[in-house]
Amino acid sequence: MRKSIISFCVVTLVLECTQAAFNCSAPPNFNNFDINTCCRTPELDMGDVPQKCDKYVSGLKSANSKYPSYAHLCYPDCIYRETGAMVNGKINMSRVKQYLEQHVHRRDQDIVTHIVHSFEACLGNVKSHMKSSNIESYKVLPHGCSPFAGIIYSCVNAETFLKCPPKMWKNERPCNLAKEFAEQCNPLPHVPLPSS
Ligand SMILES: *[C@@H]1O[C@H](CO)[C@@H](O)[C@H](O)[C@H]1NC(C)=O
Ligand SMILES: *[C@@H]1O[C@H](CO)[C@@H](O)[C@H](O)[C@H]1NC(C)=O
Repeated sequence: MRKSIISFCVVTLVLECTQAAFNCSAPPNFNNFDINTCCRTPELDMGDVPQKCDKYVSGLKSANSKYPSYAHLCYPDCIYRETGAMVNGKINMSRVKQYLEQHVHRRDQDIVTHIVHSFEACLGNVKSHMKSSNIESYKVLPHGCSPFAGIIYSCVNAETFLKCPPKMWKNERPCNLAKEFAEQCNPLPHVPLPSS
């Protein structure tokens, strides 16, 4: 018992030490380890929505065939519209929750609560930033959409990475290091926000 208390203290101490030690301008070297594999993506069946959005993005003037369409700024905008998660530029949280409950595979349902929390945290953060900067809504960019959906999408991914359920987390050193670095150096909303 005594021993476990001591080792717990040592672990906390080490964690705190490493957390405080990061220089945020110098991210750790992950040696090509793919950090995106650290939190397993839930199995999500979106039917023909990805195909529709692929077509939509390829039809935009800003389409670039060098990059996959899912990397386009307007891809999340299309995904959220097509799934009903976003209506008239506003995220509908009950629909987000309902959609995930209906379309994430049963064995991955654990992560739905985490994703919903990420949405709430990201929406709250971005909205309060917009309010404090007196921004009603983000302007439509020459890309063909407002960056709002893309911002929320990137934020939700980063936030879910930090709050990944243990059973979907790859408990390996580069992953834990990436998480500690992000916790210290990449606070909400995890992405740069436009100022107008
Ligand atoms: C942090 O890293 C940057 C970029 O490598 C470097 O210029 C800076 O001196 C470092 N700061 C500290 C406190 O080590
Ligand atoms: C939000 O989503 C819920 C659940 O799908 C739906 O019943 C409601 O009509 C939606 N609200 C808007 C404004 O689209």
